[in-house]
Amino acid sequence: VAQTSLPVVQIVKRPGIIELGWGHPDPALLPIEQMKRASSAALNTSDALQYGNSNGPGPLVEWLMRRIADQEGRSIGPDEIVITGGNSIALDQILDLHNRPGDTVLVESPTYHLALLILRGRHLALVEAPCDVNGLRTDLLADILTDLKRAGKSPRALYTIPTFNNPMGVSLAKARRQALVDLAAEHGFLIIEDDVYRELPYDGAAPPSLWSLAEAGVVARMGSFSKSLAPGLRLGYLTAGRDLVSGLVDGGVLVSGGGVNHLTAVAVGELCNCGDFDAHVEVLRASYRERRDTLIAALKDCLPAGCEVSTPGGGYFVWITLSGNLSADDLLPIAEAEGVSYLPGSKFTLNGGHASALRLAFSLYPPDQLAEAARRLGRAIRAAL
Ligand SMILES: Cc1ncc(COP(=O)(O)O)c(C=O)c1O
Repeated sequence: VAQTSLPVVQIVKRPGIIELGWGHPDPALLPIEQMKRASSAALNTSDALQYGNSNGPGPLVEWLMRRIADQEGRSIGPDEIVITGGNSIALDQILDLHNRPGDTVLVESPTYHLALLILRGRHLALVEAPCDVNGLRTDLLADILTDLKRAGKSPRALYTIPTFNNPMGVSLAKARRQALVDLAAEHGFLIIEDDVYRELPYDGAAPPSLWSLAEAGVVARMGSFSKSLAPGLRLGYLTAGRDLVSGLVDGGVLVSGGGVNHLTAVAVGELCNCGDFDAHVEVLRASYRERRDTLIAALKDCLPAGCEVSTPGGGYFVWITLSGNLSADDLLPIAEAEGVSYLPGSKFTLNGGHASALRLAFSLYPPDQLAEAARRLGRAIRAAL
């Protein structure tokens, strides 16, 4: 690899600090050998270097269609799916097609801070709907919708992460899933379902996607290979109503560009079709399950009484609510001086809510480091209290 003084990757690890602020995979768990084999197989024909089919290369699209039919019990045609450049790009593309500046759009709170950055970039009127440990409070959402209606506003969309969410790690309860889909159908807003952690369940199967529960066109579900394979692939897929899918597939960006990330999509199609995908996600689940269990056990030992720790059923994150109304922003420099970092809860809201909560990612470090991070955090909280 050519030497450069400019960065190659996003993450910057500081010496002496266990960085639990980053929701990035452990480099040791990236499928490097599998991608080498798949890329080499992809390059057996020149097709991988041509402009691609607008909704993605056939072998990958068909593999996804089979997997979705098997795992989610919903058969779809190729006009209901499109390969994307991952969920960040897909979210922006959906907003571009579906929304106009000034539209009212609902977001759960807390939610993925960088989705807020994307949403804010579209100049929408964002309205928060609260979550608890069972996900979005659909009862409160119903009240918010009534209030909006009285004020003459009808939301165009709702952004949600119902499965192993970021930042809390928890999932939307089954009864609330149906309630949410029903509210969307009744009030006519599009649910934008960010399903990025679906392949990482640690206690049995992942809950059904909202997309699989709803009538066609109610939910746009964004799936990604970032957490199941590697974020550097910049690859994902969207399952949605035919109008939204054709809006993307027949739009200038995909037609002119020949799909997105075509070479990568052909290689990932090889990787999935030869069985490496299933084998790899099994390895990830076992590894991240052990990390989650180690971190939670250590936090229970090391944190002062009164701190609440979420129990993630999958994904990358643990959410801690601090005792004594301690501010997670104020605690951060103390924690970093002890050698552990995290993201404060206020980052995951529009107006600085959840100020005494924080998010830890258990994806980047092996179990022994996570246990050490819990000890350091415990010392920092005690010092701050
Ligand atoms: C909830 C959520 N959505 C989207 C992303 C980014 O997805 P992608 O890499 O597919 O753009 C992340 C990454 O951390 C995430 O946590």
